[in-house]
Amino acid sequence: MSTSSHAHPEIIARLTKAFAFPISAYDALVEQFIRELKEGLSHEKAMPMIPTFVYELPSGKETGDILSLDLGGTNLRVCRTTLSGKGEFAITHKKWTISDALKKGPGKDLFAWVADRIEEFLDTHCKERAHGNYPLGMTFSFPCEQLDINVGKLLNWTKGFRGTDVIGQDVVKILQDQIDARKLNVTVNALINDTVGTLLATTYKHPGCEIGIIFGTGTNCAYLENQSEITKIKPGAANYTSPSNMQLINTEWGAFGNTSGALPANEYDLRLDARSSQPGKQLYEKMVSGLYISELARSVFHDLALKGELFVEASGKEVKADKDLGDLAIKERFDGAMMGALEGDETAHLEVIEQHFRTSYNLQTSQSDRETIKYICQLISSRAARLSAVGIAALIKKRELLSKPDQVIVGIDGSLFNKYPHFRKHLEGALNEIFDAATVKAKISLINAEDGSGVGGAIAAYLACKQKRH
Ligand code: BGC
Repeated sequence: MSTSSHAHPEIIARLTKAFAFPISAYDALVEQFIRELKEGLSHEKAMPMIPTFVYELPSGKETGDILSLDLGGTNLRVCRTTLSGKGEFAITHKKWTISDALKKGPGKDLFAWVADRIEEFLDTHCKERAHGNYPLGMTFSFPCEQLDINVGKLLNWTKGFRGTDVIGQDVVKILQDQIDARKLNVTVNALINDTVGTLLATTYKHPGCEIGIIFGTGTNCAYLENQSEITKIKPGAANYTSPSNMQLINTEWGAFGNTSGALPANEYDLRLDARSSQPGKQLYEKMVSGLYISELARSVFHDLALKGELFVEASGKEVKADKDLGDLAIKERFDGAMMGALEGDETAHLEVIEQHFRTSYNLQTSQSDRETIKYICQLISSRAARLSAVGIAALIKKRELLSKPDQVIVGIDGSLFNKYPHFRKHLEGALNEIFDAATVKAKISLINAEDGSGVGGAIAAYLACKQKRH
């Protein structure tokens, strides 16, 4: 990461210090991460570390025609997946953006809307449905306490969703009631987190994968754990029946640092947290994932503008008040895709940045403003990549995966990983800093999970049918 001589040097120095995450900080943070993973496996009040009811991984030979839905942070998708064995599949899907009104309104309305979308999908893509009942795998990207493979109590919303009326309730039942009210011939038979979906979908194609991660609007990780390590569940409990002694754990690692204060928060991190819908929660996610890193960048631009440190040279006047800044002054009006576009601007005069600030906020930028803006995006996203690597390294060390003969396969999905310029490169660079480049090259494969949530949901529904038969 470098800036040319045009960028504002004092601002650069100040922000570099604020967002620094030096190599010397890795070891202690990885150790703390491992401690919090272990605490979560042993008692309730720590990182959630939710035991799922998924005990086995697919072999890649599964076949069938299965529905799934993927209710994430930004979009809803309904999918029909044909698993054809040999790790192959074909998927047809339809996608809708979840409106702000649905995110912030009552949860019951959100699920009614989801059921309407399932009906819309069935009308177009499953016309023969009158002849049978479809199993559906529900990939739901929020923390749920699993009480069975198809029962899960919503613990809390994340990523700005607010439907408090459904907190503590079984989200499968709420959706199933809406489906039944529409007589859709569909049974939700598996509930999984998107990270579990990512892990299942990756294993279907690449046997041996034991870790699934999302770096998208939010972040989280699921992995395969020995049941003997999950001391908070006792032999005889409903979720302690794994035939293999292994069980997938949904870590909900976005909560790392909530109580330990281990994360290096600066004034922007603290402000973002205080203004969020859940102060004090998801602190790791708030430094790592797309929803929040773009909000951090917006808040830095906004702050510099109010201090008269940006947009002054070009406009010839100091911009002092929110009214001069348009949407730049409004929370979450700058998203990860925009941030990626600014950071990815390779034109000589940073024309993408120039155009974005002029057309979106009516702000004129000088060359030094634009270079400073690009540098701010790089600073925040590369800190996010380094912190992301800390989570991956902690899991690899906790499971001692490097001492096993096999390759460590990590399935990853999400817009930050798939689309954000250089995120993957920075993540790999950070893993090289934590382990060493030769080990990473020889032993660790980061695999782009192909449609983790959609295909993973279908595989979960398949495995649930199989589990039931046995
Ligand atoms: C949620 C997780 C989810 C992750 C990625 C987080 O906000 O708590 O359940 O897996 O986002 O979508």
